[in-house]
Amino acid sequence: MIHILLYLNTYCIKKEELPKEMSEKKVTKIGVLTSGGDSPGMNAAVRAVVRTGIYHGLEVYGIMRGYSGMIEDDIFRMDSRSVANIIQRGGTILKTARSKEFFEPEGRAKAYQNLSKRGIDGLVIIGGDGSFRGAQKFSNEFDIPCIGLPGTIDKDIAGSDFTIGFDTAVNTAVEAIDKIRDTADAHDRLFIVEVMGRDAGYIALHSGIATGAENILIPETKTDIEELIASLTEKEKRRKLVNLIVVAEGDEFGGGNEIAAIIKKRLPNADTRVCILGHIQRGGSPTCLDRLIASRMGYHAVECLLTGRYNVMVGILNNKMNYIPLNNAIKAKQKISEDWFKIVKILAS
Ligand code: F6P
Repeated sequence: MIHILLYLNTYCIKKEELPKEMSEKKVTKIGVLTSGGDSPGMNAAVRAVVRTGIYHGLEVYGIMRGYSGMIEDDIFRMDSRSVANIIQRGGTILKTARSKEFFEPEGRAKAYQNLSKRGIDGLVIIGGDGSFRGAQKFSNEFDIPCIGLPGTIDKDIAGSDFTIGFDTAVNTAVEAIDKIRDTADAHDRLFIVEVMGRDAGYIALHSGIATGAENILIPETKTDIEELIASLTEKEKRRKLVNLIVVAEGDEFGGGNEIAAIIKKRLPNADTRVCILGHIQRGGSPTCLDRLIASRMGYHAVECLLTGRYNVMVGILNNKMNYIPLNNAIKAKQKISEDWFKIVKILAS
């Protein structure tokens, strides 16, 4: 215990020296929750937060179903054993939810009461941008330091090269698309595969390039439908009949079925099929990369709370830890380099 107090003292910074995202408040009891769509590796992150917290002498509490559990007082004390044998499991042992009530002041006030009666004075939130928005609001109102970890298969968060779950999801998509190509090849078919990504095309782009897709349609870019039809017509003429189109669910045409309807109308001779991969991409055992980044991020989230960092998201950029204000870690509408599309076109000819 003595060495923990010394440790905390070492990191006690005077208020006037604190940058905007720092606080002089020392945390002693922390809560951890998973929020929004689940993503493989969330369990590894929870494990890292719990064990790092306990290592530093903190009391650690698990909050069930994201902010809903905070409001409904579904909060329990965790120890090292509570996170045994979970690093390899998909989903989240804390369960997850998208809480509408937390976006109302009354909901946040209830949540605060439930934390304060236990003395919880720091939070780690594993989720996406919606969860971070909630955390920022909550922290502004009740002065509780919140640290965000990017947990989403969509990879649509600024300030990190990785989000927990993306690598697993994209590998699941690749495995499935490879299988689809086998049957597409056997029947000389045109396959349209819809992958997840309501607002982001990273799963489509990465899995499409990795499986040699002929076309990739994503929400970040506008698809020239005439160009797409022209290229398929040209391929049909030279008897290249096996074609894979990978489309993100949030593409402007509305996803796999919608784009298939257009193609079937314009190219009635093509033997066209649609496969929607759906939630299979959200489950499964996390890859080594997802376990690793989740463990690093979870460890550093607790370090952040101990050293007085306030309302930041822990990311990894160029293999170094990166801390950005939660406010800035919102959906990153990154401009996707033209190069990627050139690669698709040249390699799939
Ligand atoms: O945020 C991740 C995500 O998987 C999106 O890609 C997808 O559109 C959405 O969640 C689906 O959410 P739900 O499971 O609530 O239908």
